[in-house]
Amino acid sequence: MSIGTVISTQDSPNTTKFSFVISGDIKKNMYVKVNNVIAVVEEIYTFNPYYEHADSVSYYEKEKSLSQIYPTTESEFKVADALIMGEIKGDRVERVIFPVNPGENVEIADNQSISKILGLDDKGLWLGNINTHNLKVKINMNRLLKKHLAILAISGAGKSYFVSVILEELMKRKTMLPIILIDVHGEYSKLFKSLPKEFNGKVKVIQNIKIGFKNVDPMMLAHWMSLTGIQTREISSQLAKIEKEVQGTYDIDLVIDKVKESNISTNTKNSLIKWLEYLKTFGMFGKVDSINIHELVKPGQLSIIDLREIDSLTIKQIIVSYYARRMFNKRKKDELPPFSLIIEEAHNFASQAKEDKNISKSILQTIAREGRKFGASLVVISQRPVQLDTTVLSQCNSHAILRVTNPNDIKHIQESSEGFTTQMAKDIPGLAVGEVFLTGEAVNKPVLFKVRKRIIDTSEKDKTLDDMLKEWMGKGDKVDNVSTFI
Ligand SMILES: Nc1ncnc2c1ncn2[C@@H]1O[C@H](COP(=O)(O)OP(=O)(O)OP(=O)(O)O)[C@@H](O)[C@H]1O
Ligand SMILES: [Mg+2]
Repeated sequence: MSIGTVISTQDSPNTTKFSFVISGDIKKNMYVKVNNVIAVVEEIYTFNPYYEHADSVSYYEKEKSLSQIYPTTESEFKVADALIMGEIKGDRVERVIFPVNPGENVEIADNQSISKILGLDDKGLWLGNINTHNLKVKINMNRLLKKHLAILAISGAGKSYFVSVILEELMKRKTMLPIILIDVHGEYSKLFKSLPKEFNGKVKVIQNIKIGFKNVDPMMLAHWMSLTGIQTREISSQLAKIEKEVQGTYDIDLVIDKVKESNISTNTKNSLIKWLEYLKTFGMFGKVDSINIHELVKPGQLSIIDLREIDSLTIKQIIVSYYARRMFNKRKKDELPPFSLIIEEAHNFASQAKEDKNISKSILQTIAREGRKFGASLVVISQRPVQLDTTVLSQCNSHAILRVTNPNDIKHIQESSEGFTTQMAKDIPGLAVGEVFLTGEAVNKPVLFKVRKRIIDTSEKDKTLDDMLKEWMGKGDKVDNVSTFI
């Protein structure tokens, strides 16, 4: 059914766009077709010749409304600008090399053509819907995750919700990729506490994290303690010695003792002891890891590393660095299965800021650069794209962008994201909660959709201040404490 007619404007139709007068029900971002050429409606304009000249509108409106004098609504018409996405030829999608003709009929594109043009996959992860077309957006898992994914938006736009939908989809699969999720605020461990039957046994939450010092290698220490070359060499040889002498596990105290006893030059020795004592104050180094790495990275399992109890950013970075390094090194030697590492608040772990101490940044950069060769994929989530390290961001070949309002953030994303159009930059500040633009490797063309409802039901809505206050006041003892202050 025709919903419009292609018109001739100063610069269109051409091979990239056309405009059409609307005669049917069509909205912005809907997909249309002219013969087999598929296009997306980028903008819609309303015209009315009665209101074209400001002087005459002003003149008439002094007396009476123009619509009371003339049948103005009868002359109103709407024009849509459509951006061409490609032409469907049999099973293939081809680039358009010849314009459509003025006067041709425009129709709403069928779902099969839209799926083909966008590169959706029937067997893919069902992440959301294009409601105007009643179309499920299913994305091929390999295309989405293999070359890393960045999820960017302001706070409250729906990043974590989107991640939980991705997780549900991954957990639904028969052969589920091992997922390790860095849960900075413990929101996922709360969310996945009560699971529907189909996900039972698939989630492991890791709290009270301890690191076995035997597994700490010199490179980790070099990054955590900003060691110089000489210091790194000396601690390396001490660790190698301990490794030979000590059967089984050991803790940081033993390393400190060995450094004290060693014949390392005084300055280097003192600095190393100072650094090791500093590390010890974090209270997180034991003899063994709180979770075996093979229990952490396991097919069919989502492992949530819950960092909610940890206040210090340095400690959080050490934990991320430790696990990311161990996972990646073991993956390279094929001692672990392929995995995806999801990092919330990624700008805190790979920061663009000069003052970043690079505790976890370098390993994340390494995984970003080399991970795809080894099947180690990264998903970075951030509400401050400008603060996210550009090496990490630019290696993410797919971007999921929800609402972003800061112009600097938008510019930053635009610079690092392939296929990010000027129109998208205009539309992103106006997105509603849960609306996402997916661009890059995951799809053939950028696609805007509404993230689907998640299966895991939570009564925990975004709490208002009032809710939080009432909940807190419900805890009697705290209220008593407060009254003593007043
Ligand atoms: N697709 C969606 N459908 C329904 N509700 C949603 C959707 N996306 C987000 N929400 C709701 O909006 C609120 C904020 O979402 P979410 O916590 O995912 O935001 P966020 O981007 O992760 O924010 P922050 O940066 O602060 O972590 C939540 O209450 C969530 O339930
Ligand atoms: Mg969040």
